[in-house]
Amino acid sequence: NDVRYYSELESTNSTAREIAPSASEGTVVLAETQKNGRGRMGTEWQSVPGGLWLSLILKPSIPLENLSKVTLVAGIAVANTLRNMGVDAHIKWPNDVLVKGKKICGILTEVSAEIGKVDYVVLGIGINVNVKLPDLKDDIRRDSTSIANEIGKPIDRTSFLASLLYELEQQYIRFKTRQFAEIVDEWINLSDTIGRNVKVTTPIKLIEGKAVGITEKGALVVLDKNNKKHEIIAGNCRYSD
Ligand code: BTN
Repeated sequence: NDVRYYSELESTNSTAREIAPSASEGTVVLAETQKNGRGRMGTEWQSVPGGLWLSLILKPSIPLENLSKVTLVAGIAVANTLRNMGVDAHIKWPNDVLVKGKKICGILTEVSAEIGKVDYVVLGIGINVNVKLPDLKDDIRRDSTSIANEIGKPIDRTSFLASLLYELEQQYIRFKTRQFAEIVDEWINLSDTIGRNVKVTTPIKLIEGKAVGITEKGALVVLDKNNKKHEIIAGNCRYSD
């Protein structure tokens, strides 16, 4: 991979979007800290030293409606990388990676598309590798953990990055060459969302019910109390049990 390293950026996703049209697939934008790290749904992402804040530029030739699949693939790659080092990671839909219920990684997928076809995808991945939890704001710290905190000592970020990029590449190749059902199966195995009672907020509504599956488009299937089925392609999920 072409890795572009910065000591500080506003947001690696913003820089990746600027260079994406001329960058080759697999280019990585990496920053030690971000002044304006962005989370999903317009939230702020606190990006203190010690973390891994990166954006990966992908150029898959897929229809826009398949974008949430790429997001699921990224979650699988992060969870597998953590599990390979003995950290018991699970994925919370759509793509938060949690350890014992606390967030260790967030993923922000951004896209540029024309006439419904994806031009490029910026996969923004933030992992609390050696982040010192006291450096985080109270409300964020309460629900966060880091790799160092889970295994009891800081780890080498360069070799972690190498394992992560390798795993991302393997998953991406599989995504392009295999049936999506295979990926859905693995996602469900790694996830702790299926079977739970959830409250999902989307830009237009709030859906409460039980998460029962993932469709082949990558949508979360929620059964509400009237047994009505909802397929949710994007939203914010909270567990209510
Ligand atoms: C979330 O869980 O809300 C997603 C957080 C994504 C954070 C990463 S850090 C690298 C990249 N650059 C950003 O500005 N955001 C993503």
